Amino acid sequence: MTAPSSKAIRPPEPPRIGVRIAGTGHAVPETRLTNEDLSRTIDTTHEWIVQRTGIHERRVCNPAKGESARSLCNAALRDALADARLDATDLDLILIASVSGESRVPSVACRVAADLGATSAGAMDVIAACSGFVYGLNIGHELIRGGSYRNVAVIGCDVMSSIIDPLDRRTVILFGDAAGAAVLRATDDMSKGILAQSLHADGSRWHDLYLPYIDRDLPEGSNWQEGPPGCLRMNGREVYKFAVKTFSELISETLEKTGLKADDVDLFIAHQSNARILESARERFGIPEEKMYVNIDRYGNSSAGSVPLCLSELRDQGRVADGDIVMFVAFGAGLTWASSLWRV
Ligand code: UT7
Repeated sequence: MTAPSSKAIRPPEPPRIGVRIAGTGHAVPETRLTNEDLSRTIDTTHEWIVQRTGIHERRVCNPAKGESARSLCNAALRDALADARLDATDLDLILIASVSGESRVPSVACRVAADLGATSAGAMDVIAACSGFVYGLNIGHELIRGGSYRNVAVIGCDVMSSIIDPLDRRTVILFGDAAGAAVLRATDDMSKGILAQSLHADGSRWHDLYLPYIDRDLPEGSNWQEGPPGCLRMNGREVYKFAVKTFSELISETLEKTGLKADDVDLFIAHQSNARILESARERFGIPEEKMYVNIDRYGNSSAGSVPLCLSELRDQGRVADGDIVMFVAFGAGLTWASSLWRV
């Protein structure tokens, strides 16, 4: 038997394709839940929450008004498509980062594709909790750069109010609901796209932040007295330590891959986990306040929704200029963490 000719199986030349963020959008529920509101139902105060987290209020979905992960994703994606001047039928793929969709099967992405009429698009959810949007951004970018896809929508959305015990003061003060979307497009301008990126996971620490439904989801020694099924459990202190360490390491590691310095980055768009975590990274690298966006005071920690919500608000405010160097960083349950350094 003769070996196949190497000529016959030679792979195609790598395509020379840039990737740009052509449009962004976001959606948040109407209902505001303030710290004062929370202090009427749980043992907490506005002062404690602001001092420990920087949060003043968060948004929460009202299912009776039809608000859900799906409705927020639909609104954010419509906005992003209009901004990109594209129709839903132009999309090749929809990636939705979420851990709080209405159902596990089908994915939220399939429902959103159908709602918007994205009839030519593949659709799937990405499960990486708070890191999910940055995971999706890196995946979507590489699929376009590989040459087989031209228009990819990446959405980050979490309705944390649907997976939180409203009487658990360790979590209910922190989280909120939001969605943000970005439409990525192929471009001939090779200078645009990701300069460096990373995806990380350490599943051995799953029990620091997890969502149990049945007995097998519980860590050894834990039980249902600690909280009801279907409600997120968080070891806040451990996650806090992990986040402070990881945030700095992610920034250093990503900069090192390019030879750039923190000073060269025009904007840091970080997961809004806790204002103190953002502040510690800002101080460590000497990043001026205006270069690290913070909106956690208004929305709380919206998990996968937080990074694209920041991006969309910044673009609406005209603060993302053509050619800017922008670093996205996020960390969360899994444990997972990820970065994405762009020339936009
Ligand atoms: O986005 C995904 C990843 N998640 C995060 O990044 C969250 C990371 N963790 C955090 O942001 C912080 O751990 C929290 C904001 C959740 C909590 O702040 P902390 O400074 O770590 O508080 P703690 O859990 O160490 O609790 C300190 C004290 C405790 O009382 P004792 O034991 O010292 O008497 C708690 O019982 O504060 C008490 N406490 C509260 N007091 C008033 C806990 N929650 C509350 C509350 N109001 N809501």
